[in-house]
Amino acid sequence: MSHGCVRRHPAPPLPLLLLTLAAASLLLLAAPVAAWRPWPNQKSNATELIFGASKKYEGSSEFVKLKYHMGPVLTADISVHTIWYGTWRKPQKKIIREFINSISATDSKRPSVSGWWKTVQLYTDQTGSNISRTVRLGEEKNDRFYSHGKSLTRLSIQSVIKSAVTASTRPLPINPKSGLYLLLTSDDVYVQDFCQNVCGFHYFTFPSIVGYTLPYAWVGNSAKLCPGTCAYPFAVPDYIPGMKPLRSPNGDVGVDGMISIIGHEVAELATNPLVNAWYAGGDPIFPVEIADLCEGIYGTGGGGSYTGQMLNGADGATYNMNGIRRRFLVQWVWNHVVNYCSGPNALDQ
Ligand SMILES: *[C@@H]1O[C@H](CO)[C@@H](O)[C@H](O)[C@H]1NC(C)=O
Ligand SMILES: *[C@@H]1O[C@H](CO)[C@@H](O)[C@H](O)[C@H]1NC(C)=O
Repeated sequence: MSHGCVRRHPAPPLPLLLLTLAAASLLLLAAPVAAWRPWPNQKSNATELIFGASKKYEGSSEFVKLKYHMGPVLTADISVHTIWYGTWRKPQKKIIREFINSISATDSKRPSVSGWWKTVQLYTDQTGSNISRTVRLGEEKNDRFYSHGKSLTRLSIQSVIKSAVTASTRPLPINPKSGLYLLLTSDDVYVQDFCQNVCGFHYFTFPSIVGYTLPYAWVGNSAKLCPGTCAYPFAVPDYIPGMKPLRSPNGDVGVDGMISIIGHEVAELATNPLVNAWYAGGDPIFPVEIADLCEGIYGTGGGGSYTGQMLNGADGATYNMNGIRRRFLVQWVWNHVVNYCSGPNALDQ
């Protein structure tokens, strides 16, 4: 168990920890993936990288050595092609669509989602080209009837993407250089390792399965399965008695919780789409990427068990940035120029 885990939340009871370790060892045997956990990274030592070495705020540390490994990053206008797997209500889709479209919206009130993306734009490729400023919602595909069942494995996720890009009617476009494929599963779908400290992950598809190498991410709606794990702080784990969840900004705990995870995965896909570009740590099996380094940090002073300073709406909702017509809570990302986590709601900007 790492320091950061203890400080960010009370320690998980032993069975959860054992499950986590079991999941970690299984992952080692399976295909490498970059996984997102709601608590500081236990598998790849991100926590040690930051908190073990330095106890400054906001993850700031001269010991974090985020490196560029010469692979491509997404420098062309980014389209996020979305697969809605299972049962999604219109208002839920609307929240997520508006978040994605907020990334390059220039007219949102500050602090804004587009201000958050500015940190991602600081990353460049070998030629010095920055990550694209433009991110827009691409094509969408509904998989309403659970084409691959209600329990997906890491491999069957690739089959879901294959079905979407090879569908006979309105297939998703094949767009390996500037397309991201975002698989969103409804709250009645289980995905391998979901809830065992994994709330989403990103990787790329294998040509042998899908026919192409496409960067993709999966994020699940945890509302029924484990909101205390994956929709924190809008829900809290059962084993923390007396801790009150915060009010979510768009009235949907599962979806509001997904937003930060979608932000996490899109930021990492842009900077490390083929898992050979921007990451820290010596182990490419568990790369520590720009959002991993800032897990759980949403504002100034964040780190350890403290989320940092967030904003409170008149309605009692907690958020940290504005988008198109809406407010969102999104974790910060690592700024490699100044060597700490940054976000648009930082108090010293
Ligand atoms: C994580 O860090 C600890 C000490 O900081 C070290 O002993 C351990 O080997 C590291 N684990 C991995 C997987 O790098
Ligand atoms: C591009 O990246 C460089 C290096 O991080 C940075 O100095 C510059 O401000 C970035 N440009 C934009 C438009 O973000």
